[in-house]
Amino acid sequence: MKIAIDGPAGAGKSTVAKKVAHELGYVYIDTGAMYRALTYKAIQDQVDLHNGEALAALLAKYPVELLVENNQQKVKINHQDVTEYIRTPEISKYVSTVAAQEQVRKTMLMIQRSLAAKGNVIMDGRDIGTNVLPDADLKIFLTATIEERAKRRYQELLTKGYKGSFEEIKQEIASRDKQDQERKYAPLKQAGDAILIDTSKLTIDQVVNHILQLVKEYQ
Ligand code: C5P
Repeated sequence: MKIAIDGPAGAGKSTVAKKVAHELGYVYIDTGAMYRALTYKAIQDQVDLHNGEALAALLAKYPVELLVENNQQKVKINHQDVTEYIRTPEISKYVSTVAAQEQVRKTMLMIQRSLAAKGNVIMDGRDIGTNVLPDADLKIFLTATIEERAKRRYQELLTKGYKGSFEEIKQEIASRDKQDQERKYAPLKQAGDAILIDTSKLTIDQVVNHILQLVKEYQ
C-alpha cells in the first residue's frame, strides 16, 4: 500500500507519518528532507540556488539517502550525515527556491518513485498525491491554521536553542507556503482525491488514529 501525505509547512506531516509508518511497519520517506539535504549541499558548494541544471547535477553526483539508525531517522548526502543541519532557519529560508527548479524536481521525482516502488510506503511532502504518487492508495492533505503551525514550529526550535522570535517563524512559514503554492512545477496543492484533515484542534495521536482508521477501511 502507498500512502501520500501532503500539506503546508508545520502541519505535523512528518511527526504523524513517522508514527503511522511505525504502527504499520511501513517505510517512511520524508521528501522534504531530500530537498533540504540538497539545499544544504548547494550552499556548502556555493552553487547558485536558481540554477536548476547545476543543482540537478549536484543531486546526480551526490546521492541523498534516507535511513533509520538506532531507531532514528537519518538523512545523508554524499554519505555525510546532515540530519542535524537541515532543519535550521537558514535552510528553511532557501529550500523553496531550490525546490522550485524544474530540473531538480524531475530528478527528485525519479528518485522518489524508485524509493516508493520498494513496497509499503508512507511518503510525505508537497506534491506526493498530485505528482509523485498520483495512484497512491490513500491520500491525506494535512493542514492547520498558520498560528497553530507557527506555534508548533517555534516550540520545536526553542528546544534546539533557537533565539529568534515567534513572528519570524510565522513569517518564514507563510512565505515558504506562498512560494511552494505559487511555483510553476508541481506546486503545493490538495489532490482532488485527497482527504483533508485539519489538525489545529487535534492531538498527534488523534491524527495518527484517524489515519490508521482510514487505512483499515481501505484494506
Ligand atoms: O517538509 P519540509 O518542510 O521539510 O519541506 C521543505 C521544503 O521542501 C518545502 O517547503 C518545499 O519547498 C520543498 N518540498 C517540495 N516538495 C516535496 C517536499 C518538500 O517542494 N514533495
